[in-house]
Amino acid sequence: MTSKLLILPGDGIGPEIVAEAMKVLNVFVQEGSFSMETEYAPIGGAGYDAEGQPYPESTRRLANASDAILLGAVGGPQYDKLDRPLRPERGLLALRADLGLYANLRPAMLYEELASASSLKPELVANLDIMIVRELTGDIYFGQPRGIETLASGERRGFNTMVYTESEIERIGRTAFDIAMKRNKKLCSVDKANVLEATELWREVMIRVGKDYPEVELSHMYVDNAAMQLVRAPKQFDVVVTGNIFGDILSDAAAMLTGSIGMLPSASLNESRVGMYEPIHGSAPDIAGKRIANPLATILSVAMMLRYSLNQAVLADRIEKAVKTVLTQGYRTGDIYTEGMNKVGTAAMGDAVVAALRA
Ligand code: IPM
Ligand code: MG
Repeated sequence: MTSKLLILPGDGIGPEIVAEAMKVLNVFVQEGSFSMETEYAPIGGAGYDAEGQPYPESTRRLANASDAILLGAVGGPQYDKLDRPLRPERGLLALRADLGLYANLRPAMLYEELASASSLKPELVANLDIMIVRELTGDIYFGQPRGIETLASGERRGFNTMVYTESEIERIGRTAFDIAMKRNKKLCSVDKANVLEATELWREVMIRVGKDYPEVELSHMYVDNAAMQLVRAPKQFDVVVTGNIFGDILSDAAAMLTGSIGMLPSASLNESRVGMYEPIHGSAPDIAGKRIANPLATILSVAMMLRYSLNQAVLADRIEKAVKTVLTQGYRTGDIYTEGMNKVGTAAMGDAVVAALRA
């Protein structure tokens, strides 16, 4: 079967890291273990530059006809002055909404070799392996009404709406419980049920869904406490499920526990398991074009793509193993470099993964 892939390099370091991820897929194509048809399209600032829109119609059509999408990153300072609907981030949000990518999986795994890159003591993070399941198409990100209005007094007032329906909560709840069943059967649901009604309902629905998963130990935590626990004793967590805005914040914190945000992939899935895969770091405009960005998060995003959308778990395992191998061999991009290691640029890191795959 030939997989139809859409490649969205995006902005900043996006094109550089995506090129390395494609080298990895091409290893499988060349050895005959994978077959793909690829299309490339612009998104974010690149979409605005090419077509005047962060999510151009041509990109939308290709996205809706793909089995999976690989995205680099979006955003850059040159776009910050654009009207809000034209900003790169809006392209990403439009893609998520358009394809119904409600389930965002953000693993935070610590590679033993990188334990010293974490800002926490090695013993607190050794063997860390958390999966954050973030709801991605609801909450205050999409809730109406929203806007900035001018009051009669002349003062302006900005407002957004936090909203979740029972079916939205139930859907992400089931996804999270299913994932917990395949891991250590521990799920922590994060909310702010002591203050926000939308998340009071969240907790109620999670408890109800949990009745269908008697083997999973469900716990609840307020988001402020969760933020504290993540940096105090992160290994208490296995799977965490939370809403869009809390997940945005907690997943960045969890990422940093692992030493570098440059290492972590993510998957965004819809109900038919079509997925969009991207590194969780941003477009890093400060190092764009310098050929020093870490491509491993994007390469690991390809592994997630093979696993979750393309049914190629064996190839996914091989990529993950190859990444471990290059770390053991001492290859490091600047973001994860420590004294005595072999400092390499973006392309050399990609080549090292390719060599490990071929070995
Ligand atoms: C993320 C990013 C996005 C978000 C931005 C770029 C819209 O921070 O994927 O976490 O807030 O969801
Ligand atoms: Mg974020």
